[in-house]
Amino acid sequence: MDYAFDFFDQPLQRDQSDSIKWRQYPKDVVPLWIADMDFRTCQEITDALVKRAQSGCYGYAADSQTAIQAMIDYHRDHYGIEIDPEWVLPQPGVVTSLNLFCKMLRLTRPTRSDVFIGEPVYHHFMSAAELQQVRERRIDLKLHGKPLPPLSTLDPNGAGGWMFCNPANPLGHLWQPEELRDVLTFCDEHDLLLASDEIHGGLVLDEPCTYTPMLAMARSDAERNRILTFVAPSKTWNVPGLGCAFAIVPDPALRHYFSREYDQMVPCVNLFGWVGAEAAYRYGEPWRLGMLAYLRRNRSLLQDAAVQWQLPLCRLDATYLAFMDCTTLLPHLKDETPAQFFLRHGVAVHDGAIFGSPGWVRLNIATQTALLQTAIERIGNALASLPYTTL
Ligand SMILES: Cc1ncc(COP(=O)(O)O)c(C=O)c1O
Repeated sequence: MDYAFDFFDQPLQRDQSDSIKWRQYPKDVVPLWIADMDFRTCQEITDALVKRAQSGCYGYAADSQTAIQAMIDYHRDHYGIEIDPEWVLPQPGVVTSLNLFCKMLRLTRPTRSDVFIGEPVYHHFMSAAELQQVRERRIDLKLHGKPLPPLSTLDPNGAGGWMFCNPANPLGHLWQPEELRDVLTFCDEHDLLLASDEIHGGLVLDEPCTYTPMLAMARSDAERNRILTFVAPSKTWNVPGLGCAFAIVPDPALRHYFSREYDQMVPCVNLFGWVGAEAAYRYGEPWRLGMLAYLRRNRSLLQDAAVQWQLPLCRLDATYLAFMDCTTLLPHLKDETPAQFFLRHGVAVHDGAIFGSPGWVRLNIATQTALLQTAIERIGNALASLPYTTL
């Protein structure tokens, strides 16, 4: 199968589907909000799912050791890390793992269960802390340049963990080994457990650049054992609706907290989730590379437009989620947020406030280029309607 631009140019007709992204707003709005792609996934995944569906046999399915092995092989071949199958805990989603992590902090470290979270970040980091009743310690990430402040400025008293997003959503930042090293050293020095959400790891735009898993930074068993890594094929191959993710937890005692919930409060991975994950990791590479090339084209279009609009964009090295600074618009918008203003002009974006950055917006560029161009045109027209500097 050839995954050239014309494959990704074909619209998926999601407006006639069950898509959350496409059903949320009126049909004439261009939806650039929630993080899934408007691309058909790779044929190899579809074929595997169809074959499984045709069996007509949908009873309780055992966890798939072949899918787990496919994930392990993929991580070895692409990122150079060795994952012991014992460490791997199936999960129906990464948000579940974020919640289990917070719950584990509360249960195992009752007097110091606060969790560090670098913000802005994917909003379910904050909601997991709130739901599981651990206190969040916000670290203000810089929105341009290197995001982390000097870690010596953080007060570790009362803290038991750190939830880290690698690569970063919505910043689009591809953490470099020295930055990861600093975080792990800090966690080691202050005995913090470190949850690394690596769901966007397959979405580093400028191939052959890859992301660095936090696990690759561990220099000792003790360092390795404080890291919990959350991965999934869902973002990279656009299969989040299949519900299959993995928590990689080398420490046996910590693993216990995750595994005891599985099949109880945490539902087992759906049998189609296993099939989709295995096909993605084994056969999905040509699609992934084609998709990244397409995203690079879309990124250029948005970058050019943002320069014209004089709205700074974070450097988008990874993910398909562009973060744009619209704070200069605020004095012109009266009671609206920038996201509400763009929606009134026919483009749905995520309001940066939910990630911790009011006045910013997050735009999902994983759509057909023609549709992105329409959105860009609408945003341009919206801005031109404001008494705004050069437009
Ligand atoms: C950083 C991050 N983690 C987790 C998720 C969601 O994961 P899941 O659907 O597997 O729960 C997202 C979705 O956008 C995300 O961006």
